[in-house]
Amino acid sequence: MKHLLSIEALGGAEIEALIDSGIRLKAERGRHAEQPLAGQVWAMIFTKSSTRTRVSFEVGVRELGGDVMFLSSNDMQLGRGEPIKDTARVLGRMVHGAIIRTFAQSDVDEFASYSGIPTINALTDEEHPCQILADLMTVKERLGGWEGRKIAFFGDGDCNVARSWAWAAVRLGFELAIAAPEAFQPRSEFLDRIGRPSNVVVTDDPKVAAGGAAVLYTDTWVSMGKEAEAAERLEVLAPYQINNDLATLAAPSHIVQHCLPAYRGKEISEAILEAHAEAIFQEAENRLHAQKAVLAALVRE
Ligand code: CP
Ligand code: NVA
Repeated sequence: MKHLLSIEALGGAEIEALIDSGIRLKAERGRHAEQPLAGQVWAMIFTKSSTRTRVSFEVGVRELGGDVMFLSSNDMQLGRGEPIKDTARVLGRMVHGAIIRTFAQSDVDEFASYSGIPTINALTDEEHPCQILADLMTVKERLGGWEGRKIAFFGDGDCNVARSWAWAAVRLGFELAIAAPEAFQPRSEFLDRIGRPSNVVVTDDPKVAAGGAAVLYTDTWVSMGKEAEAAERLEVLAPYQINNDLATLAAPSHIVQHCLPAYRGKEISEAILEAHAEAIFQEAENRLHAQKAVLAALVRE
């Protein structure tokens, strides 16, 4: 694995190996002797806000022996129009790896190809691969695995997190139900790209998606960059909230997951979030462990 640009670019066996490595690194935290990033400096270039991703990568790089440099793209010449490919060729000669959060997936792909250094997608409009690795790790810890289980996603079914879930279902074969109103269902071109597999079901009925699900999953209804559409989104997505009514339809031992940040009373009710807080914050913690697994795999190449 040279980069982590998307779940799409990973194979099923690669995903499973990263999750197993994340679980091992978690168990050995503070005791593992490996320092695979020793002597390295990684750059984090962020165009969008972040709490979890930024902190987990800053801690993760350091725990693996490396150093990290946080760069807000607004403070860089990038923010004044310097091309990505020039920025990439400069940084590629100075730092050992890059972690990028931005809008266009093509910007991260271009950085990876021009910089020559391992590059990680820390969220684009198209995918959030680090999130889904941590989510799968949590499903494995809590439920023993995803095989034979149904995962149900509610809300903006065309957002980065939903798309990465769809690719994970394609690569790993579990059942994924995406419940969204028509305007927020995965685009037809995207469904073509994933090959319209029978294990990925799209429905406008949240009850159908929740039925028998082992995991109820949601994300904010207003992703970063979509703020101008907030009013419309909040109105049309209202029936897709994860609340007690929906949860009663899920499998008896279901878990609730949220990539966070959560907006209570919108995509998730306060009662459900607090009832499942242990699993939701375990999921947030797993960002650190899963990403350490990614960093270690990238420098092993
Ligand atoms: N879930 C997630 O990526 O959180 P941040 O936006 O806080 O990094
Ligand atoms: N879909 C959300 C994820 C936030 C972690 C966004 O892009 O803002």
